[in-house]
Amino acid sequence: MAKKQKTCKDSCVTMTELVLPNDTNTLNNLMGGRLMHWMDVVSAIAAQKHSNRIVVTASADNISFRNPIQLGDVVTLEAKVTRAFSSSMEVYVEVYAENIPSGTRFKSHSAFFTFVAVDQGGRPIDVPELKPETSEEQELFEGALRRRQLRLVLAKRMKPEDATELKSIFETQV
Ligand SMILES: CC(C)(COP(=O)(O)OP(=O)(O)OC[C@H]1O[C@@H](n2cnc3c(N)ncnc32)[C@H](O)[C@@H]1OP(=O)(O)O)[C@@H](O)C(=O)NCCC(=O)NCCS
Repeated sequence: MAKKQKTCKDSCVTMTELVLPNDTNTLNNLMGGRLMHWMDVVSAIAAQKHSNRIVVTASADNISFRNPIQLGDVVTLEAKVTRAFSSSMEVYVEVYAENIPSGTRFKSHSAFFTFVAVDQGGRPIDVPELKPETSEEQELFEGALRRRQLRLVLAKRMKPEDATELKSIFETQV
């Protein structure tokens, strides 16, 4: 039977948080762990909306911290599913920090998370396909296969020689 199809729009989630004293380190900047928690939560909601299932975090790709987010800033997190495989879904999350009194806003982080839809016993279960609609969604969709292969190779769940799409980007064109 053909799989149900859903779009990125179906899973889009926006979450807004205010950085309070309990969220910060001794320099009054947002703690990395608190931000990662918010990123995990917003991405999990996007994956739930795509699959209509319970989901568990399977992996989070590299998250680097360049610019600090300060006490009192408003943090907006936007997440959407970029591609679905059998039971797993890749979610792209973007983070923006805004200082309302000074009128400044910047994109502070982005990352990819992978979630797996599971049944009540915690066993992986099939999810709908994702159908990209815009050129940006198409680009994210195509890259998702290479990113999946990279994270499965790093997790020792795939042999490097089987990561054909990933290898193809390193092969010299003749
Ligand atoms: C994620 C989990 C459900 C995978 O279960 P499993 O028995 O290994 O199942 P499978 O090998 O069939 O893998 C299921 C899917 O997970 C994906 N997956 C497993 N490990 C992965 C990883 N490290 N990165 C990305 N995807 C991963 C597989 O590629 C597969 O995707 P597909 O069905 O779309 O092809 C299981 O490892 C688990 O429950 N982990 C704990 C989750 C958790 O507690 N998260 C909170 C973080 S502390």
